Amino acid sequence: MSVLAIDAGTTGVTAVVVTPDGQIAAKGYQEFAQHFPKPGWVEHAPEEIWQATLEAVREVLTKVDRSELTAIGITNQRETILLWDRETLGSPRRAIVWQDRRTADICTRLKDAGHEERVTELTGLRLDPYFSGTKLMWLAEQEPHTWALVGSGRYAIGTVDSYLIARMTRGTYHVTDVSNASRTLLFDLTTGDWSDELCGLFGVPRDALPELVPSWGEIAVSDPRTFLDLSLPIAGIAGDQQSALFGQTCFDEGDSKCTYGTGSFILTNTGTSLERSSAGLLSTAAWRSPSGELTYALEGAIFVTGAAVQWLRDGLQIVGSAAETAAIAATVPDTEGVVFVPALTGLGAPHWDPHARGLIIGLTRGTTRGHIVRATLEAIAFEVRDVLETMPAALSSLRVDGGAAANDLLCQIQADQIGVPVERPKLVETTALGAAFLAGLGTGVWDSTDDLRQTWQLDRSFSPGGDRDAADAAHRRWIDAVERSKAWA
Ligand code: G3P
Repeated sequence: MSVLAIDAGTTGVTAVVVTPDGQIAAKGYQEFAQHFPKPGWVEHAPEEIWQATLEAVREVLTKVDRSELTAIGITNQRETILLWDRETLGSPRRAIVWQDRRTADICTRLKDAGHEERVTELTGLRLDPYFSGTKLMWLAEQEPHTWALVGSGRYAIGTVDSYLIARMTRGTYHVTDVSNASRTLLFDLTTGDWSDELCGLFGVPRDALPELVPSWGEIAVSDPRTFLDLSLPIAGIAGDQQSALFGQTCFDEGDSKCTYGTGSFILTNTGTSLERSSAGLLSTAAWRSPSGELTYALEGAIFVTGAAVQWLRDGLQIVGSAAETAAIAATVPDTEGVVFVPALTGLGAPHWDPHARGLIIGLTRGTTRGHIVRATLEAIAFEVRDVLETMPAALSSLRVDGGAAANDLLCQIQADQIGVPVERPKLVETTALGAAFLAGLGTGVWDSTDDLRQTWQLDRSFSPGGDRDAADAAHRRWIDAVERSKAWA
């Protein structure tokens, strides 16, 4: 009895097989292309996401006994919006990705028309290009021929989970769960359903949206003709950050985690009560049980962290891989005053400025790549500190996961900055693990969340260093630099 979990992230798809003791038995990974048609625009080709998914799953299937698989769990980059033809499953255009800033002007227009307060009240979100609603509005305005076929019912709208399930089931299912729906600007957090009022405001036909299903349980069945000869229940769905919250076994109110992925996302479980923040945090749905109970979370969404490291690799070309950054940063004892604000796609929590742009300040003739790489790791830690300082209750420790959690130097700088221990679990692929847990709960691999809790194991705890004054002084310089990056574009 094992679960196949698919994590369709922003830059690639990971497939893992998780055993009942919560271990990862095998892993496959396939990157896919990022398309940047104009400054500030980010797109993915749906077919490339699908092919990467097949490739990652094919790889993992070569390493395990497929007859052991009981269920499939899916987790995904959120907010990214796709269209596909219900008959052919082909997409008429590329997906508009969560990082895409093209709708900054639409957001300003909606704010100027006085809509933000009501949108926030209904959705827990804000009017920022990050979320799907204004991306759909842009499509309606800029590509009316395509949009007409959404209106006629030929094209379906969905997030990545929804698209993958349609592909895996030959179009039989058009579904999503609340954790994904709650990022679209079309979902009413209080009623737990799509909102006619919001669909009206953003001009989205409700019939084009997926059906809402529980985050675990009997959701769909994969079709072996299209999905690598696998006929398995798809029994778990969650947006990647909510999935990581589940994978870190943050089941109780107040439990929190930070995932370092393309961006960094700090989520706190707020239980069945919908909490609101006036300090830049989002309210969001965490998951909904088969019995209908909705669990909420507060979220600090930081857009660019791992993506900054990727930019050092692909844009600046000063590192060969993300794994090298700890060693390169350790070649210098500090940044000698260099600060990097990686506002490469604007700023998310807690600043929310779509017009901010990245900056590197404090350069001198003596600056080396070591300083810039170290400043990048520091920036990730400063961003997380800024979000934690807006959380309603101070944490006694922070659970971290995601690729960059493997970086010891980052974890240490993070602990120094936030002044509480940073705890890293043995498995940092928590996002995929969460999807496996959901699907396994949905099919009896695990009976309860208590069973899942038993599987969490600490790898290492990083204690904050003694020099608080130095940490605070560095953080003050960061805040100064952040202010300079705002309203640039
Ligand atoms: O909200 C965006 C988030 O879901 C993307 O996550 O892991 O692909 O950076 P990731």
